[in-house]
Amino acid sequence: MPKKIVITAALPYANGPIHMGHMVEYIETDIFARFMKLIGEHAIFCCADDTHGTPIEIAAMKKGVLPEELISVMHKEHLRDFMDFQIRFDSYHSTNSKENKFFSDFIFNELDKKKLIYQKEVELTYCERCRRFLPDRYVKGKCPKCGADDQYGDVCERCNAAYSTVDLVEPFCAICGGTPAKRKSTHYFFKLSQCADQLKSWLDKNKNLQQEVKNYVLNWIKEGLKDWDITRDGPYFGFNIPGEKDKYYYVWLDAPVGYIASTENYCRNIMKGKERYEEYWKEGRIFHFMGKDIIYFHFLFWPAMLMNSGFALPEDIIVHGYLTVNGEKMSKSRGTFFTARDYLNVLDPQYLRFYYAANLSKTMSDINLDFNDLKNRTNNELVADLGNFAYRVLSFINKNFDSKLSDFDEKEAKPIMDDLKGKFEAIKNAYLRCNFREAVKLILEVGSIGNKHFQENKPWEMMKAGKESEKKAMQVSTFCANIAKNISILMKPILPQFSAELEKQLGIGEQIWEDLGFGLKDCRINEAKILIRKIEQEDIDKLSVKDAFSMLDLRVAKVLEAKEHPNSDKLLILQIDVGSDRRQLVAGLKQHYKPEELVGKKIVIIKNLKPAKLRGEVSAGMLLAGGDEKADIHRILEAKDAKPGTRVAVDGISSLPDEGITEIRLEDFLNVKIEVNEGKAVYKGQALKAGKDDITCALDRGNVR
Ligand code: 2FM
Ligand code: ZN
Repeated sequence: MPKKIVITAALPYANGPIHMGHMVEYIETDIFARFMKLIGEHAIFCCADDTHGTPIEIAAMKKGVLPEELISVMHKEHLRDFMDFQIRFDSYHSTNSKENKFFSDFIFNELDKKKLIYQKEVELTYCERCRRFLPDRYVKGKCPKCGADDQYGDVCERCNAAYSTVDLVEPFCAICGGTPAKRKSTHYFFKLSQCADQLKSWLDKNKNLQQEVKNYVLNWIKEGLKDWDITRDGPYFGFNIPGEKDKYYYVWLDAPVGYIASTENYCRNIMKGKERYEEYWKEGRIFHFMGKDIIYFHFLFWPAMLMNSGFALPEDIIVHGYLTVNGEKMSKSRGTFFTARDYLNVLDPQYLRFYYAANLSKTMSDINLDFNDLKNRTNNELVADLGNFAYRVLSFINKNFDSKLSDFDEKEAKPIMDDLKGKFEAIKNAYLRCNFREAVKLILEVGSIGNKHFQENKPWEMMKAGKESEKKAMQVSTFCANIAKNISILMKPILPQFSAELEKQLGIGEQIWEDLGFGLKDCRINEAKILIRKIEQEDIDKLSVKDAFSMLDLRVAKVLEAKEHPNSDKLLILQIDVGSDRRQLVAGLKQHYKPEELVGKKIVIIKNLKPAKLRGEVSAGMLLAGGDEKADIHRILEAKDAKPGTRVAVDGISSLPDEGITEIRLEDFLNVKIEVNEGKAVYKGQALKAGKDDITCALDRGNVR
């Protein structure tokens, strides 16, 4: 019996929307899974939402909902995006599931039995005001190595030094701005250091893994592996560590276990117990797909967990690079951050599937998305060489032979058939090696051979030269219909919709890889239809750049308290209510307002600005004011009748959904030119509004800062 195969893609976090970067991996994995099924393997594609961790817990707290509610909304949204991109999961589960709890505890206990778990007291940052420990991203301060300001608690973005939160200089809580204390807690650790030899021998033995990745990992092993802290203190959204009340598994412990849990969901719930997870995870073949940012987890922690708890090890872990847009990292401020939905609102998912496939080749090199290139490749290759070829041949058969196929002279066609059969083998190998770029290149060559054959034989001229010649024209067309059929099979993993439509037009049932060949004869086809349309420039224009305004999370806030900044003659310190929470802002208004004038006012703030410290005081956001620089008048923007927390928007520019909001930097905001015109705040001539109320300013004209 051939072994069963489980194929996984990394689990997306349940705290944000699926974006175009994610889609590289899901499309890549989907192509591989569909291919394996097409060649007759018993393969399943399992994935899930990655639901645990501090960001989800905090997002839910701020919204005043339970994390469970938040993740259930995201689950539906993610699944809808994936479906619309024709990603065909066999199971799309959740890490917050009973299956995942079961396997996480199981693995933890197995590791514990092997004496690979121990407890140790650690020192952590703790915010008294928020009453919580502050993990990596929730505490900021100066880098202990290079002194750079405003760094997160794990690595310095300037000098790349890695450190722990307690090492930060002048730390502050990223939630409330308060100064955290140090506090001790007992944590569970996984003895990764003890797994070094086991890991090394697995890496040495496995010949499928990419050499470039192996080199990295072997080097980490050589430098010495540190034990892994797998504990987080409450409040946390996750699974309790067995026997503990307020300690949880770190999200990265139970996230990959979600691969097994999703398989169990498939076996138990979807297949109703007709299959067993062991057929995949003990006796089967495992393939993971993931991005280069999470190599450490998938090549060290995860295999070390598997090999010490009785599971099989992955046969391959395919690592891809990042997605860039127009050669740069996707960026909200450049308007190049696209969600899956942004794309789907404008373009056919098949274009992206084709484009990503044409660029994917089992390497860590980044993949660049350039919408003009997407248009050109789609129109010149997919549409012209494959889609139009099939349409041309089939509609010719409809029109001239009453949709009938004859047979053709096999002897005469042999050289072309041999050439094509050689290509089919090469395409199969390219798919097996996840070199989809090569597969696409070869399929396009098959298309060219077909096109050339049709073009050079000129069946439309043969139709004018008597009965014998008409018969020849029918044979040429029949042979070309066979090439179209083969294209539909070869393309199926990448463009399942295209292939299914072509099968329908050819009047044949669902084809598998084994059906490749030239046996389509003496039968009738159906009506030819355009298989795939060209991309128009106006569609590309719609996607090319998003308005930078849409990355701002502008909200109405009420000033509760105001006082002068003790160390500055320009700054005021405000305590404000933004609906979801209260926070502190520092504003450069001392020369324009007395503190008491501001108390009670409804102002407009940017809520998603990266928190910063101004002369020792934290500012969690920024207040907007109109300024007439020449006259040195600065007046705040006001939303007199709106409630704190109300979104401030502009007609015609879609705001990001709440889940899509991420922190922006001051420079990002400065690119967005909001102005005051006749006492009203406007952007690109449109009034800023909170609900239906205009945002006003006690100034006739000026720029908003
Ligand atoms: O990096 C990420 O987006 C993680 N949510 C991936 C988890 S993959 C797996 F290990 F669960
Ligand atoms: Zn705090």
